[in-house]
Amino acid sequence: MIGPLARTIRVGGFMIAVAIAVATLPTPADCFPWSIDMYRGPEVQPYAEAPRVTPADTIPVHGGEPPMSLEQATIKMHNPLQPTPENLTNGKQQFNTYCAPCHGESGQGNGPVAHILAKPPKDLVAGTSKDLPDGYIYGAIRDGILSMPSYAEEMPPEQRWQIVMYLRSLQAASAKAKVAGN
Ligand code: HEC
Repeated sequence: MIGPLARTIRVGGFMIAVAIAVATLPTPADCFPWSIDMYRGPEVQPYAEAPRVTPADTIPVHGGEPPMSLEQATIKMHNPLQPTPENLTNGKQQFNTYCAPCHGESGQGNGPVAHILAKPPKDLVAGTSKDLPDGYIYGAIRDGILSMPSYAEEMPPEQRWQIVMYLRSLQAASAKAKVAGN
């Protein structure tokens, strides 16, 4: 049995303990700033600064370009560039860098690495290949085609069109040579 005095001491002690605890609790005014400190830190908040502008002459890798429809590849897309000497020169440079190793500098599918490929590169200046629509060639460069890899990350759209233009000039030269009987 607990005597009345003992109970008074216990209850009293408990109340004193509660009073001390309440008195030493931080006031809401003290809590408030630190509870959002982590939020208001010195780090840059998302979109607090405008995203970086992509440096000139670079292209984004991975994603960004939606898939091309068959319609785009065949009838919708036409070379938007004018056949200026500059576009042709750039196209030649790109073609000789990225396409000629397999397709050959003349586009005949006889590039220096053609013989090691499991599937031979197409002759781009003969047969059905010479009649392919602009968008189809553009799509082949951008997305690759069957066993040919994609060159989307090597060059921006303008350079792909310059290659399409240069390839047309190779096809025209080849047709002329055939007419001349060479
Ligand atoms: C690594 C070797 C390789 C390189 C580099 C390459 N190609 Fe190809 N290309 C091929 C092969 C192989 C095929 C045939 C694909 C198949 O039918 O499986 C092909 C097919 C094509 C076709 C389709 C022809 C048709 O009649 O269907 C086009 C157009 C083409 N290439 C254009 C290009 C252009 C333009 C470049 C440069 C940007 C290029 N290729 C770079 C290997 C290559």
